[in-house]
Amino acid sequence: MNCAVKTERLTKQYAGGTKALDSLDLEVDRGEVFALLGPNGAGKTTLMRILTTQIAPTDGKAYVLGMDVEREGGRIRRRISYVPQETSVWGDITGYENLLIYSKLYGVPREIRAKRIADACSIMDLEEALNRRAKEYSGGMIRRLEMACALITEPEILFLDEPTLGLDPSMRKNMWTALERLREERDVTIFFNTHYMDEADLYSDEIGIINTGRIVVRGQPEELKDRVERERIIIRTREPEDARTRLNSLFDDVSVEGNSVVIRTENGERGLAELLGKITDADSIALEKPTLDDVFMKYAGVRMRENGENRRRKHD
Ligand SMILES: Nc1ncnc2c1ncn2[C@@H]1O[C@H](COP(=O)(O)OP(=O)(O)O)[C@@H](O)[C@H]1O
Ligand SMILES: [Mg+2]
Repeated sequence: MNCAVKTERLTKQYAGGTKALDSLDLEVDRGEVFALLGPNGAGKTTLMRILTTQIAPTDGKAYVLGMDVEREGGRIRRRISYVPQETSVWGDITGYENLLIYSKLYGVPREIRAKRIADACSIMDLEEALNRRAKEYSGGMIRRLEMACALITEPEILFLDEPTLGLDPSMRKNMWTALERLREERDVTIFFNTHYMDEADLYSDEIGIINTGRIVVRGQPEELKDRVERERIIIRTREPEDARTRLNSLFDDVSVEGNSVVIRTENGERGLAELLGKITDADSIALEKPTLDDVFMKYAGVRMRENGENRRRKHD
């Protein structure tokens, strides 16, 4: 069976009455990086808790690696790992000691523990920090230590709940570089939750968008973006009707909206080039807007405190 995850009309209603999952259908292939993207409260954590066999559904079915989450929880747990949203390592002991405890807890045989720990640390780039206490780590390093702990059992699926929450952009980048290294070395499926659109866009092979307990759309990032409405060129002018008359010969979807003429087109950059083609011979014009991450990195990134939750600048 090729599915890493499969759900059928999966439903979870909490005791208070909240329906966190509502007949959710989803399939995730093995070997993929899958992003479950959705706003707070959409049901992401609930789904992940069911898939990792921590809570039971109230209705419907869920299978992980072909096994039923309700009947084969033990077998599933031996083949997956989970990093929760909340911190899951001990601060008062060293990174190495955390890894050793995990390897004992999860029954890694004594003779291969050292190798498993070394491999996980090399993938997560933690070698330098191993003998320091975890509470001295930056937010990004703590996340990587948690992932190293999760890798100790060599899982086939790694479930990550909002892995970069509270991390600044440079820490996020380091974390994803480590996960990409993991994928180069091992055949592992990564299933992660996020509410950051750019993260889903940059790092996943496949995205499922979840809202109020249902998957609303599913596909590869590029495919999903292609499906949304056509791009718009908006020209504000005092004489929108005049402008529309002139633009009608160039574009097939031109409308007046208030003080603006709006051109809807598959490719806004080419559309702009066509417009400017009247005065210059451009083939295409690129319009690039910096993302908020770019801005943050440029103006605040180097001054960011290494503690992820606290985003104040040092000189503030
Ligand atoms: N243990 C719980 N008891 C009752 N309601 C819960 C519980 N956990 C989550 N919920 C509710 O279920 C919905 C989905 O929550 P959650 O799965 O945590 O969403 P997300 O991870 O996408 O933010 C929310 O309305 C939340 O308040
Ligand atoms: Mg959550």
